[in-house]
Amino acid sequence: KRCSSYWMGVQSETIAELTRYSFWPGTVPEGYLWSTATASYQIEGAWNRNGKGESMWDHYAHSLGAFEGDEATKSYDYFARDVETIDELGLNSYRFSISWTRILPDGTVAGGINKDGIDYYNNLINELLIQGKTPYVTLYHWDGPQALDNKYGIWLNDAIVDDFNEYARVCFQAFGDRVKHWVTFNEPWSFVMGGYGIAGAPPGIWDNDRTEMYKAAHNVIRAHARAYHTYDEEFRADQQGACGIVIGALWSEPRDPNNPQDVLGADLYQQFVMGWFANPIYGDGNYPQGMIDMIGASSQEEGRAVSRLPVFTEEEIRFNRGTADFVGLNQYSARLIYASNDPGDVDETGWFNWMSVMVPDLKGFKETVDPSWPKGEMIFLRVTPWAVRKQLDYFRRTYQNDGPFYLTETGISEATFHPPKFDDVWRQCYYMLYANEVVKAIELDGVDHQGFFAWTLMDNVEWASGIHEHFGLFYTNFSTPTRTRIPKGSVATYREITTNNGYPL
Ligand code: NOJ
Repeated sequence: KRCSSYWMGVQSETIAELTRYSFWPGTVPEGYLWSTATASYQIEGAWNRNGKGESMWDHYAHSLGAFEGDEATKSYDYFARDVETIDELGLNSYRFSISWTRILPDGTVAGGINKDGIDYYNNLINELLIQGKTPYVTLYHWDGPQALDNKYGIWLNDAIVDDFNEYARVCFQAFGDRVKHWVTFNEPWSFVMGGYGIAGAPPGIWDNDRTEMYKAAHNVIRAHARAYHTYDEEFRADQQGACGIVIGALWSEPRDPNNPQDVLGADLYQQFVMGWFANPIYGDGNYPQGMIDMIGASSQEEGRAVSRLPVFTEEEIRFNRGTADFVGLNQYSARLIYASNDPGDVDETGWFNWMSVMVPDLKGFKETVDPSWPKGEMIFLRVTPWAVRKQLDYFRRTYQNDGPFYLTETGISEATFHPPKFDDVWRQCYYMLYANEVVKAIELDGVDHQGFFAWTLMDNVEWASGIHEHFGLFYTNFSTPTRTRIPKGSVATYREITTNNGYPL
């Protein structure tokens, strides 16, 4: 079988570990999007040049004494090189994000539109279109305006819904003649938890009872719905595009499928992580019932009169419902969930119970992983390609939604406390396996799956980990003034997959 050639050059132990996952030769339909994703703060640099205002990430990183994002991978200066490398990968699409403060330096239209910012994204979009790459554009990939945080606490204040809508409208107006796929938010779960729960992202709030995190998320959902309706009512007829959201998904399995409590925990985990945002938008318009029940109940235990989970009005529920034209899921990995009241946070396999900090209101359950799941260099992320298909299946069943679906991010990192590794065997295997899952989803499950976006084009600024954690297909040399790029082995591997449209026999 020709497929075996895909495994050439890959270390045999790694193959042995990974080939227990079944491999399905097959292809995706013509026109399928093979893509890669980035985000403005992680790549642009020029943090305060040519009129750009300070973003919350600029501010937060500086407060930690970190300046790697100031120039990042210099994509502001060398965006044409990014498009060339996208071409080298054989891709027909690119997902990037717009820096709100490059367009509106103080976050508001009243504060003025920065023409240089508009020019920058016009140039990038035009270059992509000339090279035949379809742009997928994210409006909010976490770098909100610092001025709005100073002014009114940004996501904690209802006023953000209007300001986000104004910003979205400026982008639809300026770029919507050429951009046909809009993503309002990238992974809301990550930035509200990081920023308003565990102090791992701006504005850096640690909140034990998570009241602020739920409030921030509430405004994110309202802002999403509002911007969607603006697109729908004011732009869709002329621009004929689509608007949606990208939701971070971590798959959860019951540790013991025969234990009904474990089964319940795995389902609740889906409600608390993906459903928190998916249920208002793709489901009945409200928070998932499991969240309403558990957070409401725990609030009463604490003697509170009201749930810490804010309440949508009936009108808001109707307004939220159905506000996405496609389903974008970021899917990297999976967890095993089991019922437990043991207060310890490390189980017998040595796995830390991340749920205790990430999903603290899901009480009575813990997470772990199967130690035999392969790992990359970073132990946090286990290689669980099958989770992609299970997640799609769960989504379709839960929300009675048939897509179209995109795998808007997936990828694997290495740390750089040792010399760079260009022969990134684990990443080559990773992409072969994960891309194979979308082939299976299409051919075996009949899913309307339309695109695969590798995270990420080149090593960049991995948020609070700075330039010390690398997800790139291309290696970035951060000690050179232009941030030179070198293809890792996975460039050729991904290119082979993308140019063959999968794995033909
Ligand atoms: C998801 C985020 O969208 C992206 O910004 C981040 O770099 C990757 N995950 C890897 O952590």
